[in-house]
Amino acid sequence: MDTSKENTIKNEEFYDKQYEKVNIESILNKINNLNSFLIYATATHTSWVGLYHNNFKDQLKGKKVLELGCGDCTNAAIMSALGAEVHGNDISQKSGKIIKALNEKYNFKTPIKFINGDFLKAKIVENDYDIIVGKAFVHHLTHAQEIEFTEKIVKALKPNGMVRYFEPAVNNKILDEIRWRIPVHGRPSKFQKEKFAIWKENDPHPERDNSSKRYIKIGNTYFKDVIITPIGTIERFHRLLPKKYSIKFRRLAFKIEKYIPKRLNLILTRSQLIVYKNPRK
Ligand SMILES: C[S@@+](CC[C@H](N)C(=O)[O-])C[C@H]1O[C@@H](n2cnc3c(N)ncnc32)[C@H](O)[C@@H]1O
Repeated sequence: MDTSKENTIKNEEFYDKQYEKVNIESILNKINNLNSFLIYATATHTSWVGLYHNNFKDQLKGKKVLELGCGDCTNAAIMSALGAEVHGNDISQKSGKIIKALNEKYNFKTPIKFINGDFLKAKIVENDYDIIVGKAFVHHLTHAQEIEFTEKIVKALKPNGMVRYFEPAVNNKILDEIRWRIPVHGRPSKFQKEKFAIWKENDPHPERDNSSKRYIKIGNTYFKDVIITPIGTIERFHRLLPKKYSIKFRRLAFKIEKYIPKRLNLILTRSQLIVYKNPRK
């Protein structure tokens, strides 16, 4: 079986198990308290800080948006509650079930639509979407899949459309090697050889280049404008602190790291917002 196929199956199996446990009431609680959820999440949790950077929430009303790798569908629900017409796609069928339950329990202006199965095989309408979003999604694709997705995205976007990804950034080998040696919840340290090997066997991340350079290269090939924003240069160190200080530290870190010069920030960052605009059709 080719690597991309194997990778997709691994992701499907891994996330089918994860999304069994999704709590629909908790997502409903977030959309019912939309403003307070967004104020909290976009100051505290990296992927929300990144994806909603520069007031993304105000760019959604009336827009047609596709979310790739929509996962537990919290973000799809938030974007929909903010006034976008949202389509979600995920290789896990469980995401479709979550969307169905959300549509039944919340009166979205336009119900969220689930695009079933492999997006690369899905029928799309050309020039259809204003925005295509991926939150912690692209780093689950092999390089070959990433190119195939990008080519399909270029077709699916309107001529002035935008892609917005929030992804990990690996721009410094030394920091990355240190990272692998610090155990985090659910992932042992590379020093624990046997445990690490077992973890790796089940891990749904393919071996790939997650550098900003790669995103810039792909972006410049398929789009006229590419903007990379580093997120998490200081925040990444929250893992070294006791849990009780984590939230306070992260909130402060996000405020401070904005003042680090961009070149340095890009080298040290843990994650990145990637914006591609104006597809080359
Ligand atoms: C780290 S999770 C992120 C989920 C969600 N966006 C979030 O922020 O919580 C990655 C997601 O990508 C999905 N995924 C992986 N490969 C995929 C593929 N080829 N097509 C669609 N979804 C895929 C997984 O099923 C999973 O839901």
